[in-house]
Amino acid sequence: MSLMAVPPGADRLSVRVRRNTVGDHDAAQRSGFLDALAAGRLPWEAYADLTAQHWFIYEALESAATTMADDPVVGTFLFPELRRLPSLEADLRYLYGPRWADHLFALPSTTTYCTRLRHVAHLAATGFVAHQYTRYIGDLSGGQYLGPAIAQSYGLPAADGHRFFLFNGVDPRAFKDHYRALLDSVPWSPHEQEEFITEVAEAYRLNIGVLTELQRRWG
Ligand code: HEM
Repeated sequence: MSLMAVPPGADRLSVRVRRNTVGDHDAAQRSGFLDALAAGRLPWEAYADLTAQHWFIYEALESAATTMADDPVVGTFLFPELRRLPSLEADLRYLYGPRWADHLFALPSTTTYCTRLRHVAHLAATGFVAHQYTRYIGDLSGGQYLGPAIAQSYGLPAADGHRFFLFNGVDPRAFKDHYRALLDSVPWSPHEQEEFITEVAEAYRLNIGVLTELQRRWG
């Protein structure tokens, strides 16, 4: 499979996906739950609950990386350094103690998200990359502000309880530049590119669903 020439400026997939989903991102940002956590307005159990929901989501997403590893496009999007499941388990152990697994309950919106991941991220490269992009590029963007704010608000020590936000050995800006360049060179047809962008919008909606449910539960 030969790489297509990277189109110029505004036609680049990384630019189009951002332009087409900026409203979805704003809605995710406005959902309120993350801001309330950053400001320490909610009990610590609300943060632990977000971490628990992340466990289900990243379990489904990171197992898709294994299922899809032989796909030629997914093969170029495998980044073991991004894996969040070990960090989430360390955070859950810190927050809930050694019996952390007894505290894991998926909210209905989380189950919906994971079902979608099992349908699209485990089956098509466009679905896998769409969900990978929405979560990890978000974690390397707003997440880099959110992590320290949450740590400060809940008095978490240097790394414990918020390892999820710490990407050892990853320079967020350099990684995002590399990732966007990779997106811009994927040999997808126009239809596949549309499928990718549509799924990113869906991924935002699924995240908004989880954040809204958490806000209703704890806000
Ligand atoms: C308090 C909530 C949030 C804040 C403050 C925030 C902040 C930001 C900022 C400042 C950027 C731009 C970074 C850059 O240009 O390099 C960004 C990008 C991004 N965020 Fe968020 N974000 C929030 C919530 C979310 C959520 C809930 C998601 C999805 C799960 C998300 C996914 C993304 C993605 C995918 C990008 C990259 C867009 C692109 O390609 O430029 N963000 N965010």
